[in-house]
Amino acid sequence: MKYMSGKELRRRYLDFFVKNGHLELPSASLIPKDDPSLLMIGAGMAPFKAYFTGKMTPPRTRITTSQRCVRTGDIENVGRTARHHTYFEMLGNFSFGDYFKYDAIKWAWEFLTGELELPKDKLWATIYPDDDEAYKIWTTETDINPEHIVKLEDNFWEIGTGPCGPDSEIFIDLGEERGCGSPTCGVGCDCDRYLEIWNLVFTQYDRTEDGKYNPLVHKNIDTGCGLERLASVLQNKPSNFETDLMFPIIEYASKVANKEYGKDKETDISLKVIADHARSISFMV
Ligand code: SER
Repeated sequence: MKYMSGKELRRRYLDFFVKNGHLELPSASLIPKDDPSLLMIGAGMAPFKAYFTGKMTPPRTRITTSQRCVRTGDIENVGRTARHHTYFEMLGNFSFGDYFKYDAIKWAWEFLTGELELPKDKLWATIYPDDDEAYKIWTTETDINPEHIVKLEDNFWEIGTGPCGPDSEIFIDLGEERGCGSPTCGVGCDCDRYLEIWNLVFTQYDRTEDGKYNPLVHKNIDTGCGLERLASVLQNKPSNFETDLMFPIIEYASKVANKEYGKDKETDISLKVIADHARSISFMV
């Protein structure tokens, strides 16, 4: 595994998908356009809903971005876990009726294990229980340990109304010392041992306001890879807050508040909350 700065990681991800035929677009504004179902852009796919549904034609059927997101659902966890923030960047590669599960899974594996050299024996994949196609691709097109493929009922992804679908997630096992110690701890546990670093959504339904799931005109791919999370792995840091993407804010805040980081749990939580909220507020403004 290589050390990589957050900036380099972002560039490497985008370049990898550009090399594979994607158009790189800048991050959209946090304020959604023509989407009354969302207050803020909370996922890399959110600015592209009309491309997924076929209402609008994308400039290319393959797009890659690093999208700024604000997600408030986890706000109470901010600073208390290694991985939750309100503001984050989501690296994404998207297919609008172009490639589907086969290339999406292969590229995810190639990028993580080839470009980033993540240890294969520490990686796990989850799939939607009846997704035999994804299982077959994982087991025949990658060299993941088949025992590291787990079927999870909640592997279905949606945000507001619109495009959604079953997903396949990739986790890295950060070791027992990061776990909760529970005998049932495993992929999908809420503790910090198994970190979700990649989400492949097989976007094939359109959720209506009355809760119906209509098949979309074409099948799509929506990938989400949290920049700060992946940076914490590559920089071997105990949390996203210690990465070069966030730590300078903590250092500055500790200086201003005259509080040392790493000495007291409650102080650390406060400093992490300041770092997270400062980023959110800056980008919201
Ligand atoms: N939309 C999915 C997510 O945000 C994958 O990009 O996790």
